[in-house]
Amino acid sequence: MNLPQNGHGPSGSESRPKIVILISGSGSNMLAIADQVAAKAPDADIAAVISNVPEAAGIQKARDRDLNTLVINHKDFASRDEFDLKLMRQIDEFQPDLVVLAGFMRILTPGFVRRYEGRMINIHPSLLPKYQGLNTHQRVLEAGDSVHGVTVHFVTEVLDDGPNIIQAVIPVSAEDDADSLRQKVQKQEHIIYPIAVKWFIEGRLKMDKGKAWLDNALLPDSGLQLEA
Ligand code: GRF
Repeated sequence: MNLPQNGHGPSGSESRPKIVILISGSGSNMLAIADQVAAKAPDADIAAVISNVPEAAGIQKARDRDLNTLVINHKDFASRDEFDLKLMRQIDEFQPDLVVLAGFMRILTPGFVRRYEGRMINIHPSLLPKYQGLNTHQRVLEAGDSVHGVTVHFVTEVLDDGPNIIQAVIPVSAEDDADSLRQKVQKQEHIIYPIAVKWFIEGRLKMDKGKAWLDNALLPDSGLQLEA
């Protein structure tokens, strides 16, 4: 099967593939990815870490790592469209191969999503398609689910709905509360997000025909599932 290329080859590239990471909060996933990139797994450059929240703790963490940081405060814009346009222009200056949403708490306009379709990924703290949206840990507890987890997926126009790439599944115990689930899930996030980034940068992971493919094989609807 012929699948589109990411625009960079495994060899002969003049420059390393570029990643732009968007954050709004503590930035722990951004750091997990930055650690792997620093260890050349994958061999890429983080061109910028961009936050829409000036006081996001992750921005200082990125500065402490000497990463290029930018703040584009969504409150400075009159509309969602204007903010997304500015963000798009800024991202495009870096010509990224991959845009990583790492706790970026904004609903994106369709034009923004279309621009990066197939090269923008997100992490969501549930076993998608279950529990799109917020408060996933509490909702899992209220539903009495025996398992919970986290999903990395390609971003498409429907919120938390693009094709799944990889999931980590964790058991829910009687002692769990929303905070313990959040901690368990975050531990898994820091494992699976760098894996997905590495696959993509190495040209192994693609979105085609609305599906996620790894090594030219169709991934299951759940994405590759890892049991924690
Ligand atoms: C993570 O729980 C992620 O699943 C969700 O937002 C949180 C971001 O955490 N989308 P951090 O900023 O990476 O620490």
